[in-house]
Amino acid sequence: MKIQRNKVVIIGAGQVGSAVLSTLLSSGSLAEIVIIDKNEKKAYGEALDGSHSTAFAYSPNIKVKQGTYEDCEDASIIVVTAGPSAKPDEVVDRIALAQKNIEVVKEVMEQIITYTMDAIIIMVSNPVDILTYYAQNYFGYPVEKIFGTGTTLDTARFRRILGQKYLVDTKNVHGYILGEHGKTAFATWSSSNIAGVPIDDFDIIYDDVPLDKEAIVEEVKQVGYEILINKGYTNIGIAKSVDRIIQAILINELSVLPLSTTLTGEYGIEDVALSLPCIVTKDGIGRRLEVPLSVDETSKLRASADFLRETFKKTYK
Ligand code: 2OP
Repeated sequence: MKIQRNKVVIIGAGQVGSAVLSTLLSSGSLAEIVIIDKNEKKAYGEALDGSHSTAFAYSPNIKVKQGTYEDCEDASIIVVTAGPSAKPDEVVDRIALAQKNIEVVKEVMEQIITYTMDAIIIMVSNPVDILTYYAQNYFGYPVEKIFGTGTTLDTARFRRILGQKYLVDTKNVHGYILGEHGKTAFATWSSSNIAGVPIDDFDIIYDDVPLDKEAIVEEVKQVGYEILINKGYTNIGIAKSVDRIIQAILINELSVLPLSTTLTGEYGIEDVALSLPCIVTKDGIGRRLEVPLSVDETSKLRASADFLRETFKKTYK
């Protein structure tokens, strides 16, 4: 069946799936959005509610509906948000969701491959690196067409915190959070800069509050839980991250985003999925970039890889 270029299927109509639907609708660049959930009533309600928002959009002809996996057949992009997410009082770490969500992703992938091997699959469910590695390597799906949102949101949080500290537009703050979307993530301080000024120099020249790098990275890693404890879930930031990735795919932007995919020897690491800067194309991941890392950053990347590889081995029996 011919792939519909601007058709997105969202799997999971929970808080994240609902926010992804709403965000994609407001971006106005899609022809059709289908939302799927085991709870068909929820998916139907989300689709019906979302469809009315198009009356205010520039693309009133967009189709929005509750669907089934059959809708994956001609979809260009599939967003996987299914599975329980962290709850304020239950989970201290996204990793604790691994056992349950591997079973969810198994079911989801077995359904998807029944209808397509062509759509780009964006894994959002947590722990996203573990689930991305599993989806990429256990279902015979083209590996370049599957990736996870990884540290795209962490990097956005990192850049925003620095932008607020230095009163600079976040778009002019350059640097990444890489590795796990979780506690072993790290910042590429050695190459971070603001408008080309290395961050350490910028801090000395333009700011009188000393840059506490450890505190900033800790804040980035903890803020997801702070949101969770205060509102009960996170969804807006991750939904906008998904929208950013989808916009890059739709226009073949060739932009660089930190996405989670299985490494094949970068920095001497393989057989584990984590986030590196990737060039995003209309076909998914174009290339992974080995950005320069300091000795300390390289060792943190390796530690993140080891942690994720061990966690997968313990989780997937
Ligand atoms: C977050 O950090 C959903 O894990 C995602 O908000």
